Amino acid sequence: MAFSKVAVVLVTLLSFWSYGVLAQLEYLPLQSSLYAKDFVARWNEHNAGAVGDQLQLQLIKNGNFSDGATVSTNTTYFNGYFRASIKLPKGNTAGTVTTFYLSSPGGANSNHSEIDFEFLGNKTDAVTGQIEWHLQTNIFANGIGEREQRITLWFDPSEEYHYYSVIWNHKTVSMYIDEVLIRIFQNYEDEGIAYLNSKPMQVYMSIFDGSHWATRGGLDKIDWSNSPFQVLYTNFILDACQVDPNNVYASPCAHPTHNNWWNHPYFWSLPAERLANMDAIYAERMRYNYCTDYKRFPVPPKECTLPRR
Ligand SMILES: *[C@@H]1O[C@H](CO)[C@@H](O)[C@H](O)[C@H]1NC(C)=O
Ligand SMILES: *[C@@H]1O[C@H](CO)[C@@H](O)[C@H](O)[C@H]1NC(C)=O
Ligand SMILES: *[C@@H]1O[C@H](CO)[C@@H](O)[C@H](O)[C@H]1NC(C)=O
Ligand SMILES: *[C@@H]1O[C@H](CO)[C@@H](O)[C@H](O)[C@H]1NC(C)=O
Repeated sequence: MAFSKVAVVLVTLLSFWSYGVLAQLEYLPLQSSLYAKDFVARWNEHNAGAVGDQLQLQLIKNGNFSDGATVSTNTTYFNGYFRASIKLPKGNTAGTVTTFYLSSPGGANSNHSEIDFEFLGNKTDAVTGQIEWHLQTNIFANGIGEREQRITLWFDPSEEYHYYSVIWNHKTVSMYIDEVLIRIFQNYEDEGIAYLNSKPMQVYMSIFDGSHWATRGGLDKIDWSNSPFQVLYTNFILDACQVDPNNVYASPCAHPTHNNWWNHPYFWSLPAERLANMDAIYAERMRYNYCTDYKRFPVPPKECTLPRR
């Protein structure tokens, strides 16, 4: 008797609990979800939605064509802290590209600024046979990009959420995985190198078919039997300076002298131990670095050879 009473109570509790979880995880199209006020679909709204408090984008095959999605903030920002927790699609994701990035409006021919996290799906290491996940980062300033770096991740990004963040101020762009610094790009305008110092940016997320380049230079095609490829984003922090794109400096917080935490000297010139840790990650995990691609750049780009500031 006592046992079955306990069991009944447990079952009742469990069903309330799972009802709660199910209710919370209901799928809603982007425009009816809690993200409608912050994000707009830029490509394929039908592949963007929310599952509970998670923003979901998917990549599917539609006839002979791949069909992904892009969303962005409508707000433009100038400097700040930009963070999302991301859980990548599971299983064999070779050939897919999932992104979290900042970009100025106007695109390719507008001397644009851009800061990219691009996840290139999984890949089996030819020597060790281990499955690796590659993260590519890139930075554009005044339309000049071609600054790709790729590292392997020290965890499986499809297993659980990790957060990925950017701190952008007038002196330095720094990029992080959880709390770990993985890239910096510094202001060398005095050396004639453009910096991200004039264009406001929006925050973007996307998933698309990159199978012609993303994994082993395009050798691994997407395994569509594993689709839909669904990426989840949550816990956004956009603690940043909101500006009018046509009048950036009308906002006091866009001025170099403004006293925002992300513009603190700590984030202009990162502490030696954080930089040393980043270098240790590079020594072990760097799989591509434009700075050492001598076929592409017989003379390395200047920022590669200048001392850190
Ligand atoms: C898809 O590709 C196949 C093979 O190239 C072609 O025969 C077919 O007409 C295409 N279908 C559509 C809807 O474009
Ligand atoms: C995006 O911002 C522009 C300019 O502020 C505004 O006109 C437009 O309505 C916004 N679009 C959405 C979908 O919120
Ligand atoms: C990716 O991982 C899956 C297992 O999740 C594996 O079956 C597949 O072969 C991997 N793909 C590549 C290109 O290594
Ligand atoms: C892009 O930058 C170059 C060099 O600063 C300048 O000459 C050109 O006018 C700019 N183009 C646009 C579209 O802003």
